[in-house]
Formats: sequence, structure tokens, C-alpha cells
Amino acid sequence: MYETHVGSPRNRVDGRKKVTGTAPYAAEFTAPDLAQGYVVNSAIAKGRITAIDTKDALAVPGVIQVFTHQNRPRTAWRSTAYQDEVAPPGKPFRPLYDERIHYSGQPIALVVAEDFEIARYAASLVRVSYEAEQHQTDLTKVREQAYTPKYRTSMGPPSPRGDAEAAFGRSPVKVEGSYRIAVEHHNPMEPHASTVVWEGDGKITVHDKIQGCQNTQRYIRQVFGLSASDVHVISPYVGGAFGSGLRPQYQLFLAVMAALELKRSVRVVLTRDQMFTFTYRPDGLQEVAMAANEDGALQAIRHDLIGNTSTFEDYTEQTVGWSGMTYHCENYKGTYKVAQLDTYTPGDMRAPGAPTGLFPSESAVDELCHKLGMDPLKFRLKNYNQVDEATGKPFTSKELRAALQLGAERFGWSKRNHKPRSMKEGNELIGWGMAVGMWEAAMQKTAARAVLTIDGKLEVASASADIGTGTYTIMAQIAADALGLPIEKVTALLGDSSLPSAPVEGGSWGAASTGTAVELACHAVREKLFGYARGINDSPLGAAGVNEVQFREGRIALISDPSRFVTIQDAMVAGGVDRIEAEETASPSKITMLKYSSYAHSAAFVEVRVDEELGVVRVTRVVQAIAAGRILNPKTARSQILGGTVFGIGMALHEESMADHNLGRFMNHNIAEYHIPVNADVPNIDVIFVDEHDDLTSPIGVKGLGEIGICASPAAIANAVFHATGKRIRELPITIDKIL
Ligand code: MOS
Repeated sequence: MYETHVGSPRNRVDGRKKVTGTAPYAAEFTAPDLAQGYVVNSAIAKGRITAIDTKDALAVPGVIQVFTHQNRPRTAWRSTAYQDEVAPPGKPFRPLYDERIHYSGQPIALVVAEDFEIARYAASLVRVSYEAEQHQTDLTKVREQAYTPKYRTSMGPPSPRGDAEAAFGRSPVKVEGSYRIAVEHHNPMEPHASTVVWEGDGKITVHDKIQGCQNTQRYIRQVFGLSASDVHVISPYVGGAFGSGLRPQYQLFLAVMAALELKRSVRVVLTRDQMFTFTYRPDGLQEVAMAANEDGALQAIRHDLIGNTSTFEDYTEQTVGWSGMTYHCENYKGTYKVAQLDTYTPGDMRAPGAPTGLFPSESAVDELCHKLGMDPLKFRLKNYNQVDEATGKPFTSKELRAALQLGAERFGWSKRNHKPRSMKEGNELIGWGMAVGMWEAAMQKTAARAVLTIDGKLEVASASADIGTGTYTIMAQIAADALGLPIEKVTALLGDSSLPSAPVEGGSWGAASTGTAVELACHAVREKLFGYARGINDSPLGAAGVNEVQFREGRIALISDPSRFVTIQDAMVAGGVDRIEAEETASPSKITMLKYSSYAHSAAFVEVRVDEELGVVRVTRVVQAIAAGRILNPKTARSQILGGTVFGIGMALHEESMADHNLGRFMNHNIAEYHIPVNADVPNIDVIFVDEHDDLTSPIGVKGLGEIGICASPAAIANAVFHATGKRIRELPITIDKIL
């Protein structure tokens, strides 16, 4: 039987390179005569630099230059208004712009030397005098100053409906609580780095750690006043990013500035400590109230949030809307305000706003069920909604019911005794918890090119990225099927600014967008190829139309009689060509955007074991059932959900960036003290993909999987902890001190 590539569990085409360390990251590209930069960061959180003495640093043999705001080339910041592709409203931070200090860790100097160790040593000799001003980095101290910001595109809270206050007041069963989740840093394995290769004559090739090479290219062009032909960005691999690579970060500016000024290749790599000196998942003070009738019918939802932003940009994310979309409820009101802190602007971190908004709302549901004496699964099925009540639009598809049922069955949920502290083994209390998740299923305008050559090889290319999600692989699968070629004959290219236009890879839209673009480009090639095959004298394909033939194993054959075929080579020879090229652009459907709401859904079931004496929580079992449209590659898809679940375990139990507000700085800026789940913290995770047909979100039926895996898991873990211990913990991470 002929097996298609799409839908089959294929290994990642870049897998061997990634695990053998031969997939080059930004800091691994090199150039002759490469100089190395080391960043000096501000020691205060607010104020100004009164003096900066670089004499000693410059005297170190091998130091080439020390850049500060005082000698920063004037070419930099030609355009001070430029906002990158994903910038929130405001003025993006400008490294070395002037003497002002906006946050602790702000880059204030770049030492460039012949090698890294010299640069690092010389950086320790840069003497800085400051005039400090009173800073504020504690969100709880500025909640009174919170204001309604200019929201990022479609990030405002949904419109209120009904009268949440009144309904809450008159409902018999209600819960109310304040919630908070620790600030988190992305901590990808690959640190942020930029290697800028000086090509002479004002031209540079840039290797940047970024989720979208054209975002980097536009940033450099705008900020330094260069033309597109002067700046080539090549970033074929990304060692994880989780959103930290959506926006160009400061090492890029510094490396480009130094290279242009010194007319020499320069690399700037941030240390792990310095990875804590820019973007992070924001802090937020949340209040959630929910009320139901005695029969469990949900009556009212209120969800309010005060999040933090910086003094220079208004960062917001969709957080309070989820509670109003997950269930049928006639009365909903959500508010989202921000308060400014003397920190860097927070940024998108894997499913920005979703696990953060769903942790309080799915905890409140669990609490409500406990008060009602109702099974949380039964509650969720009873209050199930078929339309997005925030907009009144139907969902393009929503197989959450199947996910809930299949997940519960696999987990054995029906055997749950709903009483907290009802299961125990030795010293360990056992708890079972569940939650649902949602994430927007989006598609973005993306172009791709396909080139078929007479040797039977196919190359597909787009300026997209593969942030570890498997984009290369699904591009190759889709292309191989479109032209009926073995996957080994297909090469996928991305991460190069000279390739057809693509947005940053984020928001889980990569597969739907790049995948559709690749399919369109390959179909255009197929049409041309078919034309040549039909043009052959006495063509075996006769008068067949393109829909009456199949492209398989290098042949174009009649579906009705596969023994009548033309090979790709013969078709191209007949057409007098040795290559066929096509470029196509995929765009989201305007009708879908106008008439429908499109989301991926998940149901997470979790078992935890809590040591009664030590307070240690271990996740021992997870079932995640996912409804996310068509699954292009069950293997890479499962990996996406595993990664998301592990992120959820991190949020629930481990991850916490701790600030010292006296210093206005994050103190645990390394992976020894910033805890992330390790293998011993991760149990077997059972992933189920339910059948879901959706041709409205994207033509290839895909909804995206990069983020849905994290959405439900933190709340499910917290709910399991409640079931085990009887303690409702409203602040993440759930650490030992909160259990005991
Ligand atoms: Mo994602 S937080 O859009 O990389």
C-alpha cells in the first residue's frame, strides 16, 4: 500500500543534526578575524550614568574598542521610532542610547576584543558611576497606579456580557480568590547570540538567535539605515526560544553596531546570567470569581488582572478572556490593567496569557465543583459551549467533548473518589486533578517557493523558522506528498531572509501557515509538470484532468489505471525544461476570520503524589487529550505536547524568577537556582489526539500544537494537589513551604 508522508510518524529531518551538535546556532557561525564582544550591564535599576571610565579596559592587550552611550556611533538609532514586528505599543528599548538607566541589567557597554576571555576580563575593568533614583520593581506596591493600557492587537479583554456582578450576587454557590504566578524566564538551551559577518563595503551577514529572520533584517535596516541588500540574515536553527526570540534582543543591536563601526566581524553571546536581563513572562495579580446554581449550571464569571509592564512599552496578553470562553455562561466580565515597573518589558512566553489565565479560572471551577459536590468532568460537560460566547461566533471546530471523554477513559477518572485526601499509599497522599485548555488557532500570511529539478529533487523554501517544533519536517512531508516523491528527495530551507516572506514563527501558526504555503507552491509546480506530461505526443494520460491523476513514486499516473503514467523526467524533457519553480503566498481566510472563532482545545488529567511529611509534590501520571485539527506528524506532534506538559509542570511546581526589590533585580539568574523540571520530575505522559476535522482554520486542516500542551497542565496539577491534600494553593509554583 502506498503510504503518504503526511499523517505518518516521521523522524525529524533535522533530528540527526540537532542531536549530534552539527546544526549550527547563531554563536557557532564564524568568520576570519572574528572579534568577540562582552556586554556590561547596569548595576542599578533606575537613574543615570554620571561617568563611565573605560581606560583600564582599553589598556588590556587584545581589546579593540569599548562602546558606551558616549561613543556610540551616530549611525545607530537613525530611526528612533522603529517598532519590530511583535513590539507592543510604546517605544522599544534602545541599547546605549543615552545615560538613562531604565532597569537593572540594562546593557551599558560593549567590550570588543580579539577573543572572548579578553573581552570578559576587560569588561570587569569598566568603571561606572551612577546617580541612582528610587526604583520600583514590586507589582504589589503599584497596584493603585494600574491603568487601562493601549492593548496589543486583539489582546484586550473581551466585551462583558450579561451582568456578572448581579448574577454572582444572587447565585447560591460561589467562589472567589486571588491568584498569582511567579515571573518566569524562557531559558532556552541556546543563549541569545548574534554573529555579524562583515562582508566589506557596508554589507553584513547576520546569524541571530531569532524566531523570524526577516524581523531581524527589518530591525537592522531601520535602526541602522541600511538597505535590504546590505543585510542578509541566516539563522537556520534555533536552540529553543519559547518566545524570547520573537523580538530582536539587545545583543543583536550591539553586535551589528560594533561590526559596522569596526568594519570587522563581531560576535556577541549573552551568558546565562544575562539571559535574565531582558524579556520574561509578566507578573500578574489576578482575581477570579465564579458562581453556579445548585444543579451546577454556571451563572457568573469575573476575572480581573493587573499585570506589569515596563516604563517604555505597554505589554499586554490575552489572559482574562479564557475564563469567559471555556464554558457556557451568560454573565461574564473581565478587566486587564497594567502597572509600570522599572524592569525590561515582559514578553510572550509559550502560550502567553493562556496557562496564566486558565490556572485561576480552572482552579475556580475545581473549587466550585468541590462546593457543589459535583464531579469536575461532569461539570465541564454540563457547561459545555458550542459557540465562542465572547464574540457570539461559532467555533470552526471543537472536539473538546471527545477529548474530555477519551482522556477521562484513558486516565481512569471514573474511579475517582471526589473527597480530598481520600487516596493514600505509605507516606504519600495521592491526588487526581483535571483542567481544560484553549489556544488560538491562527494562520498568518506566508510565502513559499518550490523548485523541482530534472534529477527528481525538490527544494521548498520559506523565510520561516523552526524553533524546535518540526517545521522542516512537516514542510518536507507536505512537499513529498504533493509531488509523490520519497522524503529523502526533498530539501526544506528556512531561516534565511532572502527566502520568500514569512512572519516570526510563534503563536502556534507555523505549521498552518508555512505548511499551506509549501502546499500551494508544490501544487503550482504540479500543474506545470502535469501540463508538460499531457503535452507529450500520445500521452499515456490521454485527456485526463489534473484531478484524475496521482503523483506517486516519481510518476504521474492515471488514478483509474496506474499502469498508464509519465515519469517526472519524461514530462520535463517533453516540456524542454530542467527545473520548474513556483512561489505562492498563503493567506488566512477572511471569511473564517469574520464569521468564526478558531481555537485548539485540550483536556489534561494529572495524578500527583505528595509526601505528607516532606511536602514534596511529584507528578506521577499525565494524560493530555488534544483536539487540534489534522495531525501532520503524530511523532513530532506528540513531542510538542510532551514539551508543553513539561512547561506546565515547570510553571506548577518549579519555575520562579525571584527578585530582590531592594536591588530591583532577579537574583536566581542561573539554571542551578532557577529550577526547571528535569527527567526525574517528568512522568510518562500519555498524549491522545482526537479526530477533529477543520478546513476553516487553514486549508490543510491544521490548528497548531506549539502552545496548547501547556495551557491546561498547571491548573490540572494544582487541582490534583488540592485533591491529594485538601489545600487550595493559589500561587505558583507550588513549593514545599506552601504545602506544609
Ligand atoms: Mo510564541 S510565545 O509566540 O514563541
